Amino acid sequence: MKARIVYASMTGNDADIADILDEDLQDYGFDVETSEAEFTDASDYLTTDLCIFVTYTYGEGQMTDEIADFYDQLKELDLSGKFFAVMGSGDRVYNDHFCENVFDFEKMFKEVGAKEVTKPVTIENAPGDDDLDLIDNAAKEMAEQLNG
Ligand SMILES: Cc1cc2nc3c(=O)[nH]c(=O)nc-3n(C[C@H](O)[C@H](O)[C@H](O)COP(=O)(O)O)c2cc1C
Repeated sequence: MKARIVYASMTGNDADIADILDEDLQDYGFDVETSEAEFTDASDYLTTDLCIFVTYTYGEGQMTDEIADFYDQLKELDLSGKFFAVMGSGDRVYNDHFCENVFDFEKMFKEVGAKEVTKPVTIENAPGDDDLDLIDNAAKEMAEQLNG
């Protein structure tokens, strides 16, 4: 099964999350491709089985241009028959806006017809040891649903 991870990261935390997930999914037998949102067109999801988006949230939930552009591309797709998962890093000081862009993408993937394979993984700033387990568990669920 093929998985495509697209990530947005300003200071590296979400790039780290994407790397960890990439390795986990390879361990579970997926053929994985990972790329940055800024240099990826959302239509690349059309050639994969599992669509994954990993993102930061800045500006109290308001999307930065790179995320908004990717979101607008995603909105135009029909991903029925595909699976998806979202995850990302944020900071709880932003209260109701914690990881808001992760949930924005969860909603949009559902609107374009994809099926969620595991609930969103939200991580406080840089991924720590506990977060490695969270990411690994999510990867395991993805594997059970798609490869199992
Ligand atoms: C100016 C600024 C605004 C932020 N706004 C939010 C926010 O609204 N919600 C949130 O959960 N985190 C917010 N954060 C925290 C970042 O999302 C967090 O540091 C994240 O780990 C950054 O990911 P990155 O290293 O992949 O860029 C903000 C950080 C900064 C510097």
